[in-house]
Amino acid sequence: RKLVRGVYIKFVNPWLRFSDAVSNRTFPTNFKFGIATAAYQIEGAWNESDKGPNIWDHLTHTNPRIIKNQQNGDIACNSYHKYKEDVDLLKNLGVDFYRLSISWSRLLPTGYTNKISESGVKYYKDVLGELRKIGVEPMVTLYHWDLPQPLQEIGGWPNEELVDIFADYADTAFRLFGDDVKYWLTFNEVRQICHEGYGLGEKAPAIKSPGDGEYKCGHTIIKAHAKAYNIYQDRYREKQQGKVGIVIDTDWYEPATNIAEDRDAAERTLQFRWGWFVHPLVHGNYPKIMIERIAVRSKNEGFEKSRLPAFTDEEVKYIKGTYDFLGLNQYSSSLVRHNKEEAAIGSPSYYKDLGTTIFRDPSWQKGRFRVALFYNLGHGAPSTSLVVPWGLQKLLKWIKKNYKDPELLITENGYSDCDGSLNDDKRIFYIREYLSSALDAIYEDGVKLTGYTVWSLMDNFEWFSGYTRAHDVTRDEAGGTTSDETHQEKFGLYYVNFSSPERTRIPKDSAVFYRDVIKNRSLVE
Ligand code: NOJ
Repeated sequence: RKLVRGVYIKFVNPWLRFSDAVSNRTFPTNFKFGIATAAYQIEGAWNESDKGPNIWDHLTHTNPRIIKNQQNGDIACNSYHKYKEDVDLLKNLGVDFYRLSISWSRLLPTGYTNKISESGVKYYKDVLGELRKIGVEPMVTLYHWDLPQPLQEIGGWPNEELVDIFADYADTAFRLFGDDVKYWLTFNEVRQICHEGYGLGEKAPAIKSPGDGEYKCGHTIIKAHAKAYNIYQDRYREKQQGKVGIVIDTDWYEPATNIAEDRDAAERTLQFRWGWFVHPLVHGNYPKIMIERIAVRSKNEGFEKSRLPAFTDEEVKYIKGTYDFLGLNQYSSSLVRHNKEEAAIGSPSYYKDLGTTIFRDPSWQKGRFRVALFYNLGHGAPSTSLVVPWGLQKLLKWIKKNYKDPELLITENGYSDCDGSLNDDKRIFYIREYLSSALDAIYEDGVKLTGYTVWSLMDNFEWFSGYTRAHDVTRDEAGGTTSDETHQEKFGLYYVNFSSPERTRIPKDSAVFYRDVIKNRSLVE
């Protein structure tokens, strides 16, 4: 039986090894398990040593009402001081890797390389040293949303000068930390950076420039990523032997009906979410559908050129192929309907260009492990945590087919709950289901998926929701947020007590569950 299965899995996915022929709920031998955090969400120590301010420090201090309960990351989980304890948690979990991010302005206080902070270098070397001691591989994100404030003052990501400035920062990080770090991620969730930061204006720097600023932002970031990749390739690859990728977030988008318009709308949504950034990297340019739609709409709106900037032929060549693997953040799935109204002429915006209605179906909370089938996940309102595990398999298969079968890594997947309970069986249910769907993609569809990352190691600062749950945030007329103490947006496998100065960490049941999955390298049905 083992022989037959061995031949079969090699046929489906040549990347698998013969030793993987044990069972289809067992993870391949070279599959890696990890867990993630990001600097602004956990470090705190916002102005200690010589760290400079970044756009999140600036936003939370100058416009605190934009964040739920006026919270901020000034102290967060205090990981700047408690990193050794964090490393102990990682050791208990037994993860293969830890995905963390470097705070750009802790390393380079003004964002530029003319001043490198010694204490910043020391902090990250210390963290990496602790990881080395316990044999956990670091996976480092260079940009997890915390732009040094001086760079926002020259326009932020819509300003193409940031291509070179980011590349210098990346170069510095590769040089300083590349002996330890073999997995680099240039940017985290580019659509959120651009669409939510410079389009909707919900996240820092909270600038509202829909349909223009957001596309310029994306353009700069794609070029900055390509330049960082090429620097690694030319100066570090041979000596350091690492890999460089990028993180893009997208749900799976399922057509709401089987009519052609809705099927096209679902495909278009995937192109606008994933293709916007990955298409240039894999195929050299933006998806055709984006180029065409945005050009037509821009013209009708009286713009001289398309609001979507164009790459030169030289840039296309320079950008194409700049990835060793691609990182996917997926939390849920949605239904899509074509929306004629949105597509109609009007003020420029990403959503109007896209022209779809996206919504969720709460009856989707079904999975392979039927024990926990009918959880009431609370509000019925859109939630990051609607459990749609089959959407992961569909998305992975779609990426394999349309993006040249790349090496893929799930760089985030996770579940937020209302109460931060230690008995978090819903989170266990969610993670088990998504892992199971990942296995289906590997064994049934031959997807080259090499790892999985839980968001997050511990409860932390959840951006404009502060330490509270996203869909409970309502804005008052002045643009502030109403307070709601009862619902917390907690993603951690470890609970953090934010009312104690010690920021005590306590394992939830899901920490024990994840530790056992990693130990057994298998899901038991
Ligand atoms: C996406 C982001 O990368 C991370 O910072 C955030 O906390 C989680 N997803 C949960 O929303």
